[in-house]
Amino acid sequence: MPAPALRIREVVDPDDPALKEAYAILSRTFHRGERVRLRDWIDSLNEKALQLLTDIVWHLIVAEEDGRVVGLASGTYLGNVNLGVVGYLAVEKGTRSRGAGTRLRASLRRHFARDAKRIAKRPLDGIIGEVSASNPWLKALARRPEVLVLDFQYYQPRLHDDDEPSPFVLYYECLTRVRDRLPVKELRRILYTIWRRIYRVSRPVDRRAFRAMLRTLDSRRSVGRRRHFS
Ligand SMILES: CC(C)(COP(=O)(O)OP(=O)(O)OC[C@H]1O[C@@H](n2cnc3c(N)ncnc32)[C@H](O)[C@@H]1OP(=O)(O)O)[C@@H](O)C(=O)NCCC(=O)NCCS
Repeated sequence: MPAPALRIREVVDPDDPALKEAYAILSRTFHRGERVRLRDWIDSLNEKALQLLTDIVWHLIVAEEDGRVVGLASGTYLGNVNLGVVGYLAVEKGTRSRGAGTRLRASLRRHFARDAKRIAKRPLDGIIGEVSASNPWLKALARRPEVLVLDFQYYQPRLHDDDEPSPFVLYYECLTRVRDRLPVKELRRILYTIWRRIYRVSRPVDRRAFRAMLRTLDSRRSVGRRRHFS
């Protein structure tokens, strides 16, 4: 019997039961140190409903099968740098390899593109994401000419008070023009925006990991492609 069709849609109502179902998948897929709190998702939807998000737009896209959530993609459009930042992508084990991941990602990209048109009044410049250095997908991603897997040590801020910042690899997918390098000036602004506006760190420069990350860029004018992978 063919598998039931997948339905892809955005969750906009904070009371939509799909929100908690999606968070349950997130909890099964990522350990505590890697995931934001459910409260953060609810706050983002509440702000969106109140139209308080100005040029920051958070999205939660779900894949449903027979009315049950089987996958999710989350991400944030950042108007000040005209970039979409992929947050999480997760599909239930039993549903993987059926295209849900691709469709969720594509839907998120379409939302970012619409945000850019509406807010920045121009095409979306790029998509950014944090990936673990050991993720096998990273190598395939790095082979794509439009993707810069950036050659510097990126840190995601700690997500809980009792936690540590996490080392990740940051990639930049160029959408409007092919780029081989990002000027450090532009990258610093992107990093500050991610910490300040996505993770809501009130004073990034007071955080040791943020300062250390910026220090590694002090002697550089630009950052190019990372060549070596673990
Ligand atoms: C990654 C995952 C979501 C793929 O879902 P899937 O439905 O099995 O796979 P599909 O065949 O539909 O999709 C593959 C798509 O996911 C992308 N993908 C694969 N691994 C990825 C990763 N680690 N991060 C982001 N995208 C990834 C592929 O590039 C492909 O997208 P494309 O067609 O636009 O190139 C799924 O394996 C999963 O939940 N893994 C565990 C969680 C995880 O590693 N998430 C990504 C890091 S946030």
